[in-house]
Amino acid sequence: MQITIRPEVKQHKISRYLYGHFAEHIGRCIYNGIWAGEDSAIKNEKGIRLDTAEALKKVALPALRWPGGCFADSYHWKDGIGPKDKRPKRHNLWWNQPETNQFGTDEFMRFCARIGTEPYICVNVGSGTVEEACAWVEYCNSSQDTAITGQRRTNGHPEPYNVKFWGVGNENWGCGGAMEPEHYADLYRQFAGYMRPTGGDIKLIACGSHPGIIDWDERFLVKLKPALGLVDYIALNIYTGGSPEVNFTDEDYYRTIAGVITMDDNIKRASGLTQSYSAYGHPIGVIMDEWGTWYKEAVVENGVCQQSTMRDALFTAASFHCFHKFDRLFMTNMAQTVNVLQALILTKGSKAVLTPTYHVYEMFMPHRDAAVVPAELNGNPALNLPDGKKKDAVSVSASVSDDGKELFVSIANLDLKNNIDADLRVISGQKWEIKEIRQLSAKDIHTHNTFEEPDMVKPAEIRAKEIKKFPAMSVTAVKMKTVS
Ligand code: AHR
Repeated sequence: MQITIRPEVKQHKISRYLYGHFAEHIGRCIYNGIWAGEDSAIKNEKGIRLDTAEALKKVALPALRWPGGCFADSYHWKDGIGPKDKRPKRHNLWWNQPETNQFGTDEFMRFCARIGTEPYICVNVGSGTVEEACAWVEYCNSSQDTAITGQRRTNGHPEPYNVKFWGVGNENWGCGGAMEPEHYADLYRQFAGYMRPTGGDIKLIACGSHPGIIDWDERFLVKLKPALGLVDYIALNIYTGGSPEVNFTDEDYYRTIAGVITMDDNIKRASGLTQSYSAYGHPIGVIMDEWGTWYKEAVVENGVCQQSTMRDALFTAASFHCFHKFDRLFMTNMAQTVNVLQALILTKGSKAVLTPTYHVYEMFMPHRDAAVVPAELNGNPALNLPDGKKKDAVSVSASVSDDGKELFVSIANLDLKNNIDADLRVISGQKWEIKEIRQLSAKDIHTHNTFEEPDMVKPAEIRAKEIKKFPAMSVTAVKMKTVS
């Protein structure tokens, strides 16, 4: 087959926020995953677990959504500020575990600064109040001298945090209050109407649909019509899964890959919808607030934890290739950062291991903020997916840096059996040469990293001036530069 790239035909920019992430108070994501606690034997910096923080810093997540998820609509943020020994212990309702409140707003901000990410806070609409949400925005963003900012100062933070991204509730059709979209629209208007003037230059994110309730988005927008200026983004949640985490069949694998088509369809739908409801000068964008694989083993009883195999790496690569196509898609946040669902990192006691998914985040970093350029694929074999769906075996995305001198091409061969030979052609007025080739592959789709064998799946460098072979089940990253 042939892959033809045209680096001079620049299209939209790939928002770096497509590589965002999501960390909730659930299972061992925050406690043990991100937060060890100051008295822990696990290496920490004033409570922040150092091995996971260092690994996350390397992938420079552009944004991190917190504190939930379902937890967000039962969380009262004032429980998590001030002296740690005075913070109340609560019951974490949805995830049936104790909540010590040792990790709260100031710890989250410190963690974000430590790993170089922007905070994204989701406020409690389901069981909270407008007053509580606004006080949180004020605590984080106000530089005025008020009783609430006085608390922040007393807690050691004179300067505002200037949090830009604010979610107005989470899954309000389900765990966030089991609402009808019209009821949520009224509440949204009330919450957002107060939060907007409190926060300064903030972006407000509305709870959107999941694939089972797609009429939610339009019903919400119709009800909100006189106040659409209050919505900056509408956020979808789409999980893919159902099969066993490691002992899955080939059919399960292809069903997971078909999950990318579901996301594609829904982003397309939401893009069209938000375009038609955007007023002149105030575009409404789309966010994928939660996405990723969710396998059978990930249940409340085990802290919603699952293993991540080479299948997850391929699913991630194909998903990013899909996300890159949409200029209205501003941000995506995979669920979840450590120890939960399609985690980037798994921990056990003081050990930590990087998952295949982590490696795709790292390999794809050059795509962030680069311009999409066309990649034409000729002779691409088709994969037959369950339920009569079809998808190209080879998925490619190409982007060019701002200065036009760096070209990055990522190629995923999603076929389980067939290696693919392909010519990579660059059509350009300039001369290009390969700077680096890295490949993530495995002989068996079930391969995964364990605490005993942490490097079973990790990228390998291919030292060559060209690349033509794309093994079955592989993700390849090719960096090219112009030759002067
Ligand atoms: O990520 C786990 C849960 O999945 C989140 O709390 C919720 O928003 C979604 O249903």
